[in-house]
Amino acid sequence: MNILLLGSGGREHALAWKMAASPLVERLYCAPGNAGIAREAQIVPLDPGDHAAVIDFCRRKKIDLVVVGPEAPLVAGLVDDLEAAGIKAFGPTKAAARLEGSKGFTKDLCRANNIPTAAYERFTSAAAARDYVRRQGAPIVVKADGLAAGKGVVVAETIAQAEEAVAMMFDGGLGAAGAEIVIEEFLVGEEASFFALCDGKIAVALASAQDHKRVFDGDQGPNTGGMGAYSPAPVMTPQMVARTMDEIIAPTLAAMRAMGNPYKGVLFAGLMITADGPKLIEYNVRFGDPETQVLMLRLMSDLVPALVAACDGMLKNFDLRWYPDAALTVVMAANGYPGAYEKDSRISKLAAAAQVEGVEIFHAGTKACGENILANGGRVLNVCARGRTVAEAQARAYAAIDRIDWPGGFCRRDIGFRAIEREKAGT
Ligand code: AMP
Ligand code: GLY
Repeated sequence: MNILLLGSGGREHALAWKMAASPLVERLYCAPGNAGIAREAQIVPLDPGDHAAVIDFCRRKKIDLVVVGPEAPLVAGLVDDLEAAGIKAFGPTKAAARLEGSKGFTKDLCRANNIPTAAYERFTSAAAARDYVRRQGAPIVVKADGLAAGKGVVVAETIAQAEEAVAMMFDGGLGAAGAEIVIEEFLVGEEASFFALCDGKIAVALASAQDHKRVFDGDQGPNTGGMGAYSPAPVMTPQMVARTMDEIIAPTLAAMRAMGNPYKGVLFAGLMITADGPKLIEYNVRFGDPETQVLMLRLMSDLVPALVAACDGMLKNFDLRWYPDAALTVVMAANGYPGAYEKDSRISKLAAAAQVEGVEIFHAGTKACGENILANGGRVLNVCARGRTVAEAQARAYAAIDRIDWPGGFCRRDIGFRAIEREKAGT
């Protein structure tokens, strides 16, 4: 098979690494890619936003499957255009991608189908939103309806903060994404990321993970795209996975199908595990980053037939095998991230770092310049490791990081700390 992968992050490097290992793959292309993906795939200068150019490339190179990494091309309808051109593509159509593209859409779907989620209301005017905030009290959560690159959620600890968020969104602070907002109940519990592969009708549970969103140790400082992750999430016991599949994933799939928008692709549920069980915080219609990096390290089966089966509606009786090991990834970011950061700093000794047992290094924002690897983004590297325990995976990842020579970058030193505390306590 010939495959085209779209995207340029650590998620796409992990997917490329896994697909390149498949005996089914003849040629693997990636656009726009990065310096690490270039080791697994042929990088091509294609803009995923230019659907006609992507279709033309697929025809010329006889592409059998397009795998879309990020959400923006999905929400923009790239899969619809590829399918209309007769090209198989992994990911939801534009209508199905509303599960991520519109928080109001997803909340209404939950309400109509008794899917556990935070209580909420939708608003198109600041005055009504403010009244609601005052009636409900704080803490309360204010969310822009549309895609806002991770900046669309404000967890307000006071009514004043919530009112400020409402004003910011309706004043156009997030552009069109904030023209409509959702205000919802603050949920208490432990967060987990859960992934299911869907073929329109059937969902197969993939694995769970937990990520660290704050930039500094101890989960302090501003939010980021994610500073590290590990899999499995200890809170996702077999019973909690079963409840998530039965109470959240399956009714979502049934509702999307009944609406005439069957969901195909990977469904990423951001969950809050509350005293009452799992509740949906939000859906993403793509693989998580950095969760995918640890999922791919734990996946024993070939990924490619699973993606094809999801596209073809053939997931019935499909079985995926996983290593029982834990996997952990530490993100290395450029100094200054998530604020303004430096570009083009030189990274060396990556080959020595990759020699540590169980370690795999995935690139995110990197570019090659001759023999050198240069930083080319905020989140730059994912240093990943497998181990029998989260503690062992963590020790391996940090042993590799200590070999890397990159004065222009930093990382957290405590990724996985909650899971490791649990391992120590034996719970
Ligand atoms: P989202 O972009 O929807 O994943 O939200 C970003 C983060 O905000 C989540 O990972 C949670 O930590 C937090 N969050 C979102 N909604 C809620 C909620 N209803 N209750 C508590 N925390 C929330
Ligand atoms: N790690 C969270 C995300 O991919 O959105």
